[in-house]
Amino acid sequence: MVMEMNEATCDHIAFVMDGNGRWATQKGLPRSKGHEAGADALFEILDALHQLKMKWVTVYGFSTENWNRPEDETDQLFDFSSQLILNRRNELIEKGVRVYFAGSNDGRIPKALSDEMKKTQELSAKNTDTNLIVAFNYGGRNEVVDAVRQLASNGTDLANISEADISSYLYVPEAPYPDLVVRTSGECRISNFLIWQIAYSELKFLDVLWPDFTPEHLHEVLAEYEQRERRYGGLNGESSETL
Ligand code: IPE
Ligand code: IPE
Ligand code: MG
Repeated sequence: MVMEMNEATCDHIAFVMDGNGRWATQKGLPRSKGHEAGADALFEILDALHQLKMKWVTVYGFSTENWNRPEDETDQLFDFSSQLILNRRNELIEKGVRVYFAGSNDGRIPKALSDEMKKTQELSAKNTDTNLIVAFNYGGRNEVVDAVRQLASNGTDLANISEADISSYLYVPEAPYPDLVVRTSGECRISNFLIWQIAYSELKFLDVLWPDFTPEHLHEVLAEYEQRERRYGGLNGESSETL
């Protein structure tokens, strides 16, 4: 197939993996079962993205606002995430996935888990096929505040900072901005996810709960994305994002 001039190509897809709790509740199961099913769905989607040679994938694992949940749920989510990293990190590494964790360094992640995150980043650092960013203890506003703090502590003249300065101090500065953000579960909001990076991203909200999101849904959203015309404030594909 001949690519049309302004056909959109997706190098970075980001997911707000929402609806695990409702999926479980609808089945009369505890919410933790929804998170387990959500992790299975994630690995299936990662496989599909790897086959599609997607360069960058960002997933929202735990937001800074998710601390508002009852302690038993946050405890379970943290235990579950630690186990998931330990059980499945080799699978990702062998597949050629480079893993990054992006989030606030506010001391709220238990040390054992943050050590495993660091180790996973190091073990996968030489991989080049797919870059997976897991946003964990992540808040988009906080990411911008953290960037400005870093600029200040480096002695940058804050009165003259630029968009490029902030961009270069984001948690994963080498990542291009997402082309497409997909949120499952029917909620049409961003919930403090990548607010700086998605200024010109295409958005897709789906009624499917995350554990039910399949590679077929993925192929559909990517096909729809390819038909979108991105203008960046200009006219008919003549412009592109400058950062
Ligand atoms: C998303 O599913 C996963 C996390 C926030 C960790 P939810 O747990 O938000 O599920 P719902 O939205 O309550 O169904
Ligand atoms: C966003 O989902 C966070 C993650 C998927 C990790 P939430 O379920 O926390 O978002 P709200 O509370 O519905 O906005
Ligand atoms: Mg939710």
